[in-house]
Amino acid sequence: MQENLVNDIIDLQKEKKWKEIVERYHDHPDRNKLLWVFPSKENFEFLKERLQRLCCGRMLSVGCGSGLLEWMITEATGIPVSGVEIDGAWWHCKYAPPTFIPLLFTANELDKDIKSLLQESRSTALLFCYFNNREAFNEYLKYFSGNVIVIIGPADGKGVHTDPKPFGDVPEEWKLYDSQEVRDSKDFIAIYRRNSV
Ligand SMILES: C[S@@+](CC[C@H](N)C(=O)[O-])C[C@H]1O[C@@H](n2cnc3c(N)ncnc32)[C@H](O)[C@@H]1O
Repeated sequence: MQENLVNDIIDLQKEKKWKEIVERYHDHPDRNKLLWVFPSKENFEFLKERLQRLCCGRMLSVGCGSGLLEWMITEATGIPVSGVEIDGAWWHCKYAPPTFIPLLFTANELDKDIKSLLQESRSTALLFCYFNNREAFNEYLKYFSGNVIVIIGPADGKGVHTDPKPFGDVPEEWKLYDSQEVRDSKDFIAIYRRNSV
């Protein structure tokens, strides 16, 4: 079952069929093997439109996992998305999930290259999808020079924990700009901007 899901998604990705991926697998019981959230066409449009308004030409996804979401965002919106992960050795081993974009790697303590990337990212939106590491979240924000962050995760009541959560969980200087539920999943896309925008 799990193998079928992974192989089917790999095949669909090769054919660039992101719509089929989200429609077929958004409620599949094994979907978390590759990705926690499967946005709808409307969710991708929401993201594209809001990021255009906020003058963000790129995204950098922290804790991108397989990179499936990041690949689909690029396909669906035209916005280039890169992804950062920890533990390069795991992601290169044969038991790791497949990856759909090239991953950038860092150690737990942020690498020099990642710090520089964050510092040179003024028109980039930083994405955290189902991220679960508050200390690292604070560290990424400390070096980030851009003015927009996107948090995707479960609202209270879904019974799943992430850190940060999409609402009420970011430092004071970040204000909620807009949000949208992912289908009717109790997961939300929450877009924040800094006062300086
Ligand atoms: C729950 S998974 C979510 C993966 C993916 N974003 C998704 O929605 O399916 C959280 C990911 O964050 C990564 N992570 C944890 N700490 C990190 C850090 N300091 N820098 C980058 N990634 C990190 C983990 O390796 C893991 O892949």
